[in-house]
Parts: sequence; C-alpha cells; structure tokens
Amino acid sequence: MTSPFIEEMIEMTSNMYRLGWDERNGGNISYMLDEEEVKEYLDIHCVLRRIPIGFYAPTLIGKYFIVTGTGKYFRNVKRDPETNLGLFRIAQDGTTAELLWGYRDGGRFTSELPAHLMSHMARLEVDPENRIVMHTHPTYTLAMNYVHELSDRSFTHSLWEMCTECIVVFPEGVGVLPWMLCGNNTIGEATAEKMKEFRTVIWGMHGIYAAGKTPDEAFGLVETVEKAAQIYMLTAHLPRVNTIKDEEMVILAESFGVNYRKDFLNL
Ligand code: 13P
Ligand code: ZN
Repeated sequence: MTSPFIEEMIEMTSNMYRLGWDERNGGNISYMLDEEEVKEYLDIHCVLRRIPIGFYAPTLIGKYFIVTGTGKYFRNVKRDPETNLGLFRIAQDGTTAELLWGYRDGGRFTSELPAHLMSHMARLEVDPENRIVMHTHPTYTLAMNYVHELSDRSFTHSLWEMCTECIVVFPEGVGVLPWMLCGNNTIGEATAEKMKEFRTVIWGMHGIYAAGKTPDEAFGLVETVEKAAQIYMLTAHLPRVNTIKDEEMVILAESFGVNYRKDFLNL
C-alpha cells in the first residue's frame, strides 16, 4: 500500500534521522487520520490483530492513527514502511488498538503510546484540528538540558533570546518536565498535562514532544527549538555581548499579533 499518509511518515522519519535526532530506535510519531482517507486505501473492517493499549482513551474511540513501531529505526521506515509503521483504530472499549495494517513482523506500536495518545486527547480539547504528535531526541536541545535550569519559564526565556523568530513560532513557550522514567502511563499523564498549555514539551535529559495540526507545524516547532538550543550551546561558554531584550520580544510578538506568555518575560 502507498498513500499520502505513509509518504508523509516516510518523509518525517527520514528527515529527522538525517538531522541526527533519531539514533537507533530513538523517537516516535503518531498521526491521526480521517476515516475517509483510510478507507480509500484499506478495508477498515479487516482487523489483523487486537492489541491492548494499557490505558483508557475515551475521546479517541473510533479514531485512526498511523504510529511508528517500538524498537524500530527511523532510518528503516522508507525501506520497509509495513514493518516499521502500523495503522490502527481505537476500539469501542477505548482500551484496545485494532490493527488494520503494518507491524508486519508481529511488532507493536511505540512504547511511548501513552504519551502520544494522552497528548492527542489533551491537544484536541484545546485545538480540535490537532493531528500529529512527534517525539525525538534533538542533539542541542538535549545538551542544553544538562547546563540549564529545567523550568517552563526560564527554559522558554533562554530559547526566546536565541532567535528572533522564537517568540513568534512558540509564543505560548515550552513546557519542561524533569527526568522521568519513560514508556509508561505516568510520563504520559505528565506530558498530557503540559500539552493543555504548550504544543512543545521537553522531557528533561531525554528529548522533546511537539504537537500540531500538520506535520509541518509539529516539525517546525522542534526545529525552531533545536536551532535556538544550538545557538545557546554555541554561545553559553562565551561572554554575552548582545542579546534580544525582553522589550524587543514584546515588539516582535505584538507586531506579529501572537498571544505570548507575558509572565515568561521580565518586564
Ligand atoms: P520506541 O522504540 O518504543 O518508540 O521508543 C523510542 C524512544 O524514543 C523512547 O522514548
Ligand atoms: Zn525517546
């Protein structure tokens, strides 16, 4: 099967791999699809397997997702999408994934499914058009986690200072979680809680989550945060001679008409 949504997954995973963000099986993506677009390519009544998801996702019942497989390498998605990806529907019980395509080697969805689906539920509450959640391990964002305080306000402020466009691209800021054990419902719930407020959530010393209406929106958030973190890491050990001032960020945000977190600035 080829389809625009599989092509989209291939493009995202290949780009992320080439950017050096997704070593080995690092990273995972979940993309919510419309039944109409799935129907064009698949028999939606033919369930290959039923896989428990381990939590209750009431607002996702009947929704379709294409999701990267656990232990699978982003590098290999293009060569063999049917093994490295899977497409499923959340069953009427709200706790089971009905596999319709993929995970061909008997595999299953990412171990981070709780963070993905709980984030989808949280984002859909605030943005009914949200479709994508992506998780990746961008190098400079991670490096910055080791040398910078991990709080929403101070981490956001430092990122905003690093690129003129930052406050325009993510005016709500970024949410930051401390280091936590990954792959379980607890980190999923913590991520979803932050997702009520932010489209971008940093997992301390692990990676980043981003959500959006389109792959471009989510990808754009990650690459903008990563660019800012890169500049931070290239300059953190040098004397700071110039900076973007908080008053200048206000001018930027106001001229672009974005609703920014005023309490994250020192005015
Ligand atoms: P999966 O291989 O289960 O998707 O896990 C990768 C990862 O990045 C864990 O956080
Ligand atoms: Zn990870």
